[in-house]
Amino acid sequence: MILLKNAEEIERIRSAGKFAMEVLTELGRHVKEGVRTSDLEAVCEEMIGKRDDIEAAFKGYNGYPYCLCVSVNDEVVHGMPSDGRFLKEGDIVSLDFGAIYRGYYGDAALTYPVGKISEKASRLVTVTKESLYKGIDEVREGARLHDVSSAIQSFVEAEGFSVVREFVGHGVGRNLHEEPQIPNFGVKGTGVRLKKGMVLAIEPMINEGGSDVVIRENGWTAATRDGRLSAHFEHTVALTDKGTEILSAL
Ligand code: MF3
Ligand code: CO
Repeated sequence: MILLKNAEEIERIRSAGKFAMEVLTELGRHVKEGVRTSDLEAVCEEMIGKRDDIEAAFKGYNGYPYCLCVSVNDEVVHGMPSDGRFLKEGDIVSLDFGAIYRGYYGDAALTYPVGKISEKASRLVTVTKESLYKGIDEVREGARLHDVSSAIQSFVEAEGFSVVREFVGHGVGRNLHEEPQIPNFGVKGTGVRLKKGMVLAIEPMINEGGSDVVIRENGWTAATRDGRLSAHFEHTVALTDKGTEILSAL
């Protein structure tokens, strides 16, 4: 069942989503050559510690042990912060962070370059970010859910990249993952009708090469099977009386 949210609930999700983007923005100032991925986790912990009304959404979720997911290069999602992993020039690093404000979740992700990156990597990051906005553009009353999915897929594939199938976007609210699932591929004109009160976490995960992923030995981290790059952007979006609002935008 898709839970529709009232204005008060959306207000809380907005507070959570904005905090998530504040954290991701601050992390952008720390992403540079020589930084450990665990240093980024420490920044998150510190920012959460300063707020008594905010909790980390991912820590403890299905046993995930950190606040932040840090997925470098061929890692798609759910990369774990590590003392042994140093960022180096030319890497791309996807950061995914969720927060809880008064019982409601906000979820966001973005991909940063580390120093100067290749032309191809840069194009992957730009296309992935643009694909998120192509999806968000389809969110309107009466549209179908897979209009969002299809817009992302067709844009990405026309650019010569591929869409990850194993992970999808999701409804978000009192829980991190609610119905509906939002694939980043699909057939326009199908899927549930979008209604006021829906809050959706749209999150394209896009690969430079093939769409296949493997799960690493830690049981969490997904990486591309072919070892080529992957990028990820995510926003929490609401459909309200006033139209579509990106709740995780600053
Ligand atoms: N943004 C991701 C998602 O929506 C992050 C989940 S990580 C987890 O699925 F650790 F919480 F599972
Ligand atoms: Co999400």
